Amino acid sequence: MDISRLIRKEILTQKAYAVEELSYSIKLDAMETPYVLPEDMRGFLMEKLRNVELNRYPEAGSPTLRARMAAHLDVPAEQIIVGNGSDELIQMLCTTLSGPSATALVPFPTFVMYRIIALNCGCQVIDVPLDDRFDLDLETMLAVIGKDNPVLTFLSYPNNPTGKCFDAGKVEEIIKASQGVVVIDEAYFPFYGKTFLPMLKKYDNLVILRTLSKLGLAAIRVGFLMGSRTLVGELNKVRLPYNINSLSQMMATFYLDNEQIFKDQSDRVRADRELLFSRLAGMKGIRPMKSDANFLFFCCDFDSYRIYEFLLDQGILIKNLPVLGNLRNCMRVTVGNPEENEEFLRVLQEFIVKQGV
Ligand SMILES: Cc1ncc(COP(=O)(O)O)c(C=O)c1O
Repeated sequence: MDISRLIRKEILTQKAYAVEELSYSIKLDAMETPYVLPEDMRGFLMEKLRNVELNRYPEAGSPTLRARMAAHLDVPAEQIIVGNGSDELIQMLCTTLSGPSATALVPFPTFVMYRIIALNCGCQVIDVPLDDRFDLDLETMLAVIGKDNPVLTFLSYPNNPTGKCFDAGKVEEIIKASQGVVVIDEAYFPFYGKTFLPMLKKYDNLVILRTLSKLGLAAIRVGFLMGSRTLVGELNKVRLPYNINSLSQMMATFYLDNEQIFKDQSDRVRADRELLFSRLAGMKGIRPMKSDANFLFFCCDFDSYRIYEFLLDQGILIKNLPVLGNLRNCMRVTVGNPEENEEFLRVLQEFIVKQGV
């Protein structure tokens, strides 16, 4: 039997998101934090984990965690949903808002999951290339909004993979002009600190996403969505009842109790980002961009595949972005700890010297 004839066209034409199994000792590809919790905190956490009732279902809808986050952000709990990472929240948005004739607007390049999830949910995706300063092409985006009336517009702020924040004035223009929902994904908020959250009171069609993944807790898969009461009410209809397991709910509350530890780690990453930037900027044939996030985007005068392989041969994994629209040979490196950054720079320099430039 040909099972594939049963599969929806949008799914058949996609490729599964592949996370390759590679051998490396320094992982700088996925914007994780290089730091683990201090030993005494881990002991304290283990004590808390012991008391989690593993025989019971988790709290449905994470009410305790939501109440804590509501107080933390000064947003009513009814306007917050907790997701299994922001990925799940993006999926809830697309499931709720998409339909056969619905379109989603995404800049290019940006975080790939917006496009993948929107397509999976049956949306048409309209990509608008960023301008040559990696900012939003406002004119084209407003034209698309006027003509195609997208149900969803996704803006990563700061943007992945470029690391830059879009002009805040342009973002607000887009929110104002849209009849659909505009999602401001603040995954990299810990490394930038500016937010559109206060604008929730002003715009009903605004949604803010945050995640614990980039600030040191990628393993627990917890993200937060903040939006209008009405939208959050509808999104809750598509949320699976027990979407956040008890261990993750407990860990996320632990994060809120101990936020300063995580903030200190993000501040270290932020300072090291500047050092890494200036060292990369001093290298022949490497053109890094200033970043507002915990990674740096750079284009090279060399074949980026060769750099990627050279680094991997020496145990260092970064992200290769060989073709990005008109750009060629770009790469993205996550800021690691000082030793990891140093090793990355040493091996990259070795590659450059070998080219004889
Ligand atoms: C802009 C952006 N949003 C969301 C995510 C994923 O977040 P989560 O781990 O919470 O699913 C990423 C991960 O790289 C990202 O770059």
